[in-house]
Amino acid sequence: MSAGLFLSFEGIDGAGKSTHIEALAQAFRRAGRQVLTTREPGGTPLAERLRALVLHEPMDPLTEALLMFAARRDHLVQVIEPALARGEVVLCDRFTDATFAYQGGGRGFNWSVLQALEAMVQGMPAGAVRQPHLTVLFLLDPDIAAQRLAGARVPDKFESQPVDFFRLVHQGYLRRVDADPGRFARIDAAPSREQVWEAVQAAVTARGWL
Ligand code: TYD
Repeated sequence: MSAGLFLSFEGIDGAGKSTHIEALAQAFRRAGRQVLTTREPGGTPLAERLRALVLHEPMDPLTEALLMFAARRDHLVQVIEPALARGEVVLCDRFTDATFAYQGGGRGFNWSVLQALEAMVQGMPAGAVRQPHLTVLFLLDPDIAAQRLAGARVPDKFESQPVDFFRLVHQGYLRRVDADPGRFARIDAAPSREQVWEAVQAAVTARGWL
C-alpha cells in the first residue's frame, strides 16, 4: 500500500485554487491513487456547521481562531488521519497556514497563541505535529485578486475585507514560508490558468508523487 500523502492549498481569496485542486485530484486518480478532496474550515458535518458560523457571524479574533481550530480538530480526527492511514492522497483546500495568515496576519491575532493551538490540535503520538507534506501556495497581488473576486458571488466575511487586509494575509503566508520553506511550493497565480496548472503539476512531479 502507498503511504498517505497530505497536500494543502493556500492563497488569498481570488488567487484561484479550486480548479487546480480538482485537476490534481484527477491526475492522482489516473496514476491509480485513491484521492480525498476536502476543505477547511469544513470537511465533516460538525466542521461545516462551524464554517457557516465563522464565515458569516461577527465575532472577536480569539473566538474566530478557536472555531477554526475546533473545526480542524474534528476534520483531522474524523477524516484526514483515517484517510492517510489508508494510504490515500488527501487534497485539502486550506489548512492551518490559513489560520496564521488570516487570523494571525489579517486580524493581528497573537502568533504564538496560534502556534500553541497548532501543536495541541495537530499533535500526534511521540510529540510530532501533523503538517501537510506539501503546501501549494498561490501568490497573487491583492489588487488583482480583488478584481478577480469582484462581482463573482456574494462575498463572505473575509472576501468582503478591504485590500489592505489581504496584504496582511499575504505577509502572514510569507512568514509561514520562512519558518518551513521546504514544505511550500510557491506558485505565481498571475499567468493564464494553463500556465499556473503547469507550475502546480511540476511542483508535484518534482517530488516524485506523479
Ligand atoms: P475559501 O477557502 O476561499 O472557500 P470558497 O472558495 O468557498 O470561498 O473560503 C474560506 C475562507 O475562510 C477564506 O476567506 C479564508 C478563511 N479562513 C480563515 O480565515 N482561517 C482559516 O483557518 C481557514 C481554513 C480559512
